[in-house]
Amino acid sequence: MAKSKTKFFCTGCGYETPKWMGRCPGCNEWNTFEEERIVAKKGKQPSATTGPSVKPVKIKEIKSGGYGRLDTGIRELNRVLGGGVVMGSLSLISGEPGIGKSTLILQCISNMANKYGKALYVSGEESVEQLKMRGERLDAIAEDLYIVSETNIEVVEEYISNLQPKFLVIDSIQTLYREELFSGPGSVSQVKECVNNLMRIAKSTNIPIFIVAHVTKQGELAGPRVLEHMVDTVLHFEGERSMGFRILRALKNRFGTTSEIGVFEMAEEGLVEIFNPSEIFLETLQERNEGAVVVSSVEGTRPLLIEIQALVTPNNIGFARRTAVGIDRNRLNLIIAVLEKKIKVPLENYDVYINVVGGLKLEGTSYDLGVAVSIYSSYEGIDLPSKKVMVLGELSLTGEIRPVTQAEKMIREAEKMGFEAVLLSNRNKKKLPESIKIKILGVDDLHDAIETLKRY
Ligand SMILES: Nc1ncnc2c1ncn2[C@@H]1O[C@H](COP(=O)(O)OP(=O)(O)OP(=O)(O)O)[C@@H](O)[C@H]1O
Ligand SMILES: [Mg+2]
Ligand SMILES: [Zn+2]
Repeated sequence: MAKSKTKFFCTGCGYETPKWMGRCPGCNEWNTFEEERIVAKKGKQPSATTGPSVKPVKIKEIKSGGYGRLDTGIRELNRVLGGGVVMGSLSLISGEPGIGKSTLILQCISNMANKYGKALYVSGEESVEQLKMRGERLDAIAEDLYIVSETNIEVVEEYISNLQPKFLVIDSIQTLYREELFSGPGSVSQVKECVNNLMRIAKSTNIPIFIVAHVTKQGELAGPRVLEHMVDTVLHFEGERSMGFRILRALKNRFGTTSEIGVFEMAEEGLVEIFNPSEIFLETLQERNEGAVVVSSVEGTRPLLIEIQALVTPNNIGFARRTAVGIDRNRLNLIIAVLEKKIKVPLENYDVYINVVGGLKLEGTSYDLGVAVSIYSSYEGIDLPSKKVMVLGELSLTGEIRPVTQAEKMIREAEKMGFEAVLLSNRNKKKLPESIKIKILGVDDLHDAIETLKRY
């Protein structure tokens, strides 16, 4: 009999300690430790990635030849993974409850079963009847798709060795457990142990595995942060549930970049891939708008056009609100400060709300100018030529418009989407190739930009 004892684990980062602590030395959070009963293991532990006892070899003597990849049958998912799912890789798919993780994965595994043969979907969350019903709605009933409702990892391992699937899905890691650990499913030691097991299975059998993981309200992985280090790929599925759009991005990828995103729309028949996101993001945009303007952002290799909306309203309670959905709040404060100082827009008694349409989160600074002019437009109550002029540029503290990178890509997308003109820094304008046909409105500072738009 193995001896059992207890240990304390930080639920945030997985830090392990024999006695309780108030503050975690790993992540500096307070009151994150939970006691778990564990079993002391005897003997040597096999390594997670290789199995027992392998000798060091010369790197020159190891065979290489790129990663073998499988097609998931979903182009947007393939793109985010870096060109399909790598053989023997372990990927985590995280996202808020109800966002569509099981839907995405069921569509994917059914495609793969059709293409490559047997595939196994292990669900600890839903009955096989529920899965069947979803499968029927999504038209994801492949001949070689096997489903089972199971939470004991040792039983799952048996199924794997009997069935020898080409692809495996675990939905979700928080429901899986190993009996000899006494702590419950979803506890830090269970989650770590089960992921370790799955990693060993993936590497020794070369089966790619997807595991679903829940996130908490704060958007953090429900489970130790160490999970992210243990797996090859971390995909995050996000979007506003009220709207149909879903965005898939890689937060970590050992086999590709993390900058590509996949765009989907949630429909009755499941997740529909959106190959031209700009079109969808601009679908509801009016010709002229108060407080709305189109900016662009390059996500991976794809330029996207995105509508930014601003709403400026008088505030009588003395503490002006700044609310930013989809952009960085510090950036918003900086932009407001420049508007106040350089354009003399007195915003201290106004609430300012910014929203990025479609639930996208913008990074970088190329949307600065767009935010500034949309705030100005809402404050002054004047319309902008929203559907005609795309606005690009970083704002410096002096009110000067700085050039943006990858301007050409974004301009070409605006051209494709039928815009008449692009407003951007004169320094960008000078470097553009002759082949660009769309009108380029070059400006030097914020004042200049606002006047140009007013006249348009
Ligand atoms: N009949 C339907 N028509 C359209 N959309 C539906 C339908 N049924 C479910 N959905 C959508 O699917 C979503 C649930 O998807 P799914 O079960 O894949 O999410 P999940 O991320 O796996 O959730 P959980 O965290 O509960 O496991 C719902 O929020 C809803 O948007
Ligand atoms: Mg689910
Ligand atoms: Zn911690």
